[in-house]
Amino acid sequence: MIDEAFRLFPVAASTFAEKVDRLYLFLVGLSGFFAGSIIILVITFAVIYRRRPGRISEKTKSSLGLELTWTVIPLILTMVIFVWSADLFLDQSIPPEGAEQVYVVGKQWMWKTQHANGRREINELHVPVGRAVKLTVTSEDVIHSFYIPAFRVKQDAVPGQYRTMWFQATKPGEYHLFCAEYCGTDHSKMIGRIVVMEDTAYQTWLGGFTEETPVQAGEKLFTQFDCVNCHESGRRQRCPNLGGLYGTNVPLAGGGTALFDEAYIRESILDPKAKIAAGYGPIMPTFRGQVTEEQVLALIAYIKSLSPNVAAAGAQGGTHPQSSAPGKKD
Ligand code: CUA
Repeated sequence: MIDEAFRLFPVAASTFAEKVDRLYLFLVGLSGFFAGSIIILVITFAVIYRRRPGRISEKTKSSLGLELTWTVIPLILTMVIFVWSADLFLDQSIPPEGAEQVYVVGKQWMWKTQHANGRREINELHVPVGRAVKLTVTSEDVIHSFYIPAFRVKQDAVPGQYRTMWFQATKPGEYHLFCAEYCGTDHSKMIGRIVVMEDTAYQTWLGGFTEETPVQAGEKLFTQFDCVNCHESGRRQRCPNLGGLYGTNVPLAGGGTALFDEAYIRESILDPKAKIAAGYGPIMPTFRGQVTEEQVLALIAYIKSLSPNVAAAGAQGGTHPQSSAPGKKD
């Protein structure tokens, strides 16, 4: 469980946390010292040098020594801040060799992550403790920002760009993940969790994912990609329930019908707006570039299995999504 107790500082759970906090406290302390000094001097001088009968202000003389002092001291202080923060910034910008690779894609309004071995997650990221993890961050639509307060790291997800960030978690546990860039209606819901695991548990988690049938893989993908969110019957349903549709002609928005076959499923995953089912809005995002051909096939296998009457017959012929894809736009 994520620790929800109120705290002035987020939990410190990465190697950066302490370094960032130290710099932050230095800045706060420095600002506090000067702000306090100024307030005290303003009040003191206002009292001491207040207007009194018979007192006339003297003509001020310039003092080279005083001017040098109040120029040189701030110069030194700002240079300390510059070198200190630049060093920290460079440290955060350059991932160490051999870091675990993770891909992150932001889109309205979710985080999609993928590990090197292909394992995907939605609004979650499992990472090992004590090992450097490098994230390659991009966006499918607008600018988002991948922010993990407990790690003191934040990186913009910019469409068409690959940004790099990295961290090394120091404590197993669960931590908040936020989107830190206003990105539309559900920006505040674009949240998730980072799960830091012991290395062996992480390896098990990472590995315990292969060796499953396409239907099982497809079913998993259906949940991982949140298809289930919109396609499942119930209160949140916003897209057609896919059960029993395979092999039938489905009515389309704007008239006509389409044969619900492999090609149609594939087209609907990669180009959802091409043929929209009657009675539903064009709200499904494209998964082009997000799914591999194997994953599309697994999804097709799963969606087929939702129509038991034809699944058996369909299995005979195998899947040939490429062979009959009229109107496929690449
Ligand atoms: Cu995505 Cu804010």
